[in-house]
Amino acid sequence: MKVLVINGSPKGKKSNTYKLSQAFIGGLSENNTIECEEIIVREKEIGTCIGCFGCWNKTPGVCVLHDDMKEILDKMLWADVVIWSFGLYYFNVPGKMKMLIDRQLPLALPFMVGESESGGHPMRYDMSGKRHVIISTCGFYTAKGNYGSVNEMFDHFLGKGGYETIYCGQGELFRVKELHERTDKYLEYVSRAGKEYSGGGITKDTRAHLDELLYPRDTFERMADASWGISKEDGKKEDESLVFTRQMASLYNKASYNGKDIVLEMNYSDIEKTYQIILKEDGYEVRTEDFIQPTTKVITPYTVWRDIAAGKISGSQAMMDKLYRVEGDFDLLLNWNKYFGSDEGAISSGDSAADRRKEKTPNLMLTLIPWITFWVAVSVNSYFGAFISIGASALSLLVFFRNRKTIYDVISVDSVIGLSALTLLFPGLVSYILPCSYLAFGLMWSISCLWKIPLTAWYSMKDYNGEEAFENPLFLRTNRILTLMWGILYILTSIWTFFLMATPLSPFISIINNIMPLLMGVFTVWFQKWYPAHYASK
Ligand SMILES: Cc1cc2nc3c(=O)[nH]c(=O)nc-3n(C[C@H](O)[C@H](O)[C@H](O)COP(=O)(O)O)c2cc1C
Repeated sequence: MKVLVINGSPKGKKSNTYKLSQAFIGGLSENNTIECEEIIVREKEIGTCIGCFGCWNKTPGVCVLHDDMKEILDKMLWADVVIWSFGLYYFNVPGKMKMLIDRQLPLALPFMVGESESGGHPMRYDMSGKRHVIISTCGFYTAKGNYGSVNEMFDHFLGKGGYETIYCGQGELFRVKELHERTDKYLEYVSRAGKEYSGGGITKDTRAHLDELLYPRDTFERMADASWGISKEDGKKEDESLVFTRQMASLYNKASYNGKDIVLEMNYSDIEKTYQIILKEDGYEVRTEDFIQPTTKVITPYTVWRDIAAGKISGSQAMMDKLYRVEGDFDLLLNWNKYFGSDEGAISSGDSAADRRKEKTPNLMLTLIPWITFWVAVSVNSYFGAFISIGASALSLLVFFRNRKTIYDVISVDSVIGLSALTLLFPGLVSYILPCSYLAFGLMWSISCLWKIPLTAWYSMKDYNGEEAFENPLFLRTNRILTLMWGILYILTSIWTFFLMATPLSPFISIINNIMPLLMGVFTVWFQKWYPAHYASK
């Protein structure tokens, strides 16, 4: 497949739209061998059509002007697919691209044909097999309503419905590194569109994603206003760190408001600047003075925070490396994406928070139910208890069939069924089997700490952006400590159960063994919040 990209942006390769066109071509080439040629319009010598009609009468098919247009027309004749790539300028193509369009006259014959209502000319060459794609970004929040005259123009020379379009509003965001998560997602859909186009046509689903806004209108417009670096009040230039902080604040997602204003203080230690972002029910406020008691205070070099925002370094890794610290309530940092992320802000960005909620997640109950049933039921009556445990294990698989299974769920169900079978076969050994079951449970938790992802991390990740949490060293560290503590608790439980079973205290074992995990559960809830905050404040 021969592909010609006509990049009409005056910015050349720095064009926002060019990124979309590149992604589209990437998609085209997935299932095809493509030969791709590029014309960067701004680099070409293209004179204005002088309207002499020489290409129609004096030298048919050849323009009287001798510049780069000859090469461009040849390439247009060569191509199977022509991609028209440009940023919207005054509701149409940029000036030089319009010059190129005007200079296509040699491709047409002068005669009048009556097919279209408005009149037209036949083509000099057979163009019937050629396909055209128009890819364009524009500066307003939406493409809707902005491409009327572009469509009118292309309808005339390519024919109504004779081309595919990808129009995207908020085009300037493709240059903003800090927003790459959202724009990369959009580019993935453009690439998918390219792949589908080469196979027949863009599907409805991909089209729906291409038509989505990158950000809701108000978020985008706040961000755009903040990006100019001048004060809205007096039009004067503002400090770069203030502009950056304002842009960060403009991503605030009001839906995250939970009944209490949050005051985030940014203390840029290297440039000695402090700002406060107050997150309120109806929006946010950025303060440069008249500070109030902060809820959360981030003490960071400005350069570090910029690198984190631009995705050059990971925020959680930077904290582990002690590049910045956090004082006060750590919840804001733990749930940064909820407050400022593109997740909830974007109308939908593919694997948005909403989509992630639909994903299967592990459920700790699937691991716990077989064991708890075994411990309680077998200590009351070993014979019936063993049957009940086998039943509960099988049933838990059915009840939690919608949940994602982890290796620990499988080990738990298999172990409890095995231990129950042993209890039935050797009823006299129950005083050994029961402590062994606690030991097995404790070992499972402890040994999981040797792997990258400790046991509890699998079950708590859903509250921390899903599997993304596995890239967060602080999350893993917190979970490793907790998993080990639970593991040790159950190894100890196995020991005291073994010794207590031979004593008069044996009827109370079940009570003791249930109180301890209850206390540990309360501790876990507290530790999960306290430890990351404690670590971050150091
Ligand atoms: C002179 C000029 C005119 C523009 N006219 C419009 C316009 O009519 N509508 C719009 O939404 N954006 C307009 N924009 C914004 C651009 O379309 C937007 O920045 C686009 O992403 C640029 O794409 P590019 O980087 O591929 O050239 C204009 C920008 C300039 C510089």
